[in-house]
Amino acid sequence: MPSTDFVVARNDLQQCKVIETQLPDAAALPDEALLVKVTRFAFTANNITYAVLGDHLKYWQLFPAPEGFGNVPVWGFGEVVASKHPGIAAGETLFGYFPMATHLVIEAADVSKTSLRDAAAHRQGVSPVYNAYRRVSGDPAFAGKQGDYQALLRPLFALSFMVDDFLAENEFFGAKRVLLSSASSKTAYGLAHLVHARGIRTIGLTSAGNVDFVNSLGCYDEVVTYDDVTSLPADQPVAYADMAGNSPLRSALHQYFGEQMKYSGIIGLTHRKSSPGEPAQALPGAIPQFFFAPDHIRKRSKEWGPGGFDTRYGAAWAGFVPKLDHWMKVSEHRGPAAVQHAYLDTLNGRVPPDQALILSLSE
Ligand SMILES: NC(=O)c1ccc[n+]([C@@H]2O[C@H](COP(=O)([O-])OP(=O)(O)OC[C@H]3O[C@@H](n4cnc5c(N)ncnc54)[C@H](OP(=O)(O)O)[C@@H]3O)[C@@H](O)[C@H]2O)c1
Repeated sequence: MPSTDFVVARNDLQQCKVIETQLPDAAALPDEALLVKVTRFAFTANNITYAVLGDHLKYWQLFPAPEGFGNVPVWGFGEVVASKHPGIAAGETLFGYFPMATHLVIEAADVSKTSLRDAAAHRQGVSPVYNAYRRVSGDPAFAGKQGDYQALLRPLFALSFMVDDFLAENEFFGAKRVLLSSASSKTAYGLAHLVHARGIRTIGLTSAGNVDFVNSLGCYDEVVTYDDVTSLPADQPVAYADMAGNSPLRSALHQYFGEQMKYSGIIGLTHRKSSPGEPAQALPGAIPQFFFAPDHIRKRSKEWGPGGFDTRYGAAWAGFVPKLDHWMKVSEHRGPAAVQHAYLDTLNGRVPPDQALILSLSE
């Protein structure tokens, strides 16, 4: 059974190619295994971060690729085309973490009415969230446009939700305004939407070409370009949610706001070229710290009890999704050439912020 896979050179993400791999035919599947056709998946800057951190956070081990290459994980949908598991029928739709490929074999385990897990040995050792699949056949929340929104935003908005909750729990560290870099990114505007609704002032930092888009969202009280941060008043407390991961920008902000910088959270790295590492010298204000979502999820899961996280997240999601009809234009691109094009455009920051890409390696 041939699968078409898209792989990238781990040490030079500009190098990428389409390859054919062999998977077992339906008849030769091991017991409990599923042969899944990857039908469509989302692609955003977040997937580039998976590639950048592939070695460090073990993302490369999830979907094996030839020596020196990696298969970038994506969030999307698959259809079970053959099943050796008695509880799962061919034709089922699954939502979860997939390779950039036409097919995947899943070793189904912990099968419940709503979910299952891939128990393949090489997929262990990462957070369980990356090996869980939701069974979504017939679920309108995962069909059509709603399904595109889930693939595009579910993992991103979960982070927006966690950061908002963390900041609110800490009373915004005494700040009445939050600065967000890469304000045009989906993760940033998800966070701005939540923070803004609490009556905290949201200030979006973005590149000159994205100012109009960020202004149009309505969830930022103010928008400034990266080279104009000194136009902001420096004498009031501020919290910084950094999606860009841009070290020179972080240094400039800390120098400018000094002791008024009450929180500095490193969340993303959309500007990865400009941030090879942390600044060597100590910065004024709060010490920059990585926001590690699993720690916060663990804490809240304990405090909120069974279902508590899902209920709260579901309510936040329901308030966010209606905005997306105005904020995002979803387009679908199919086939290896289109996928390669979309990958390189995303890698090189050429996708306009109002565009949201749904891809498939199948024509
Ligand atoms: N820690 C976590 O668990 C977690 C979870 C979710 C997301 N994140 C991170 O949040 C960040 C945003 O992800 P997203 O998927 O929401 O992004 P997205 O919507 O695809 O963001 C696109 C924006 O990012 C900036 N950008 C993208 N590529 C760039 C490049 N090559 N050069 C310069 N700027 C570039 C631009 O914004 P500007 O012009 O406004 O700078 C662009 O408009 C990612 O780094 C992602 O990994 C982290």
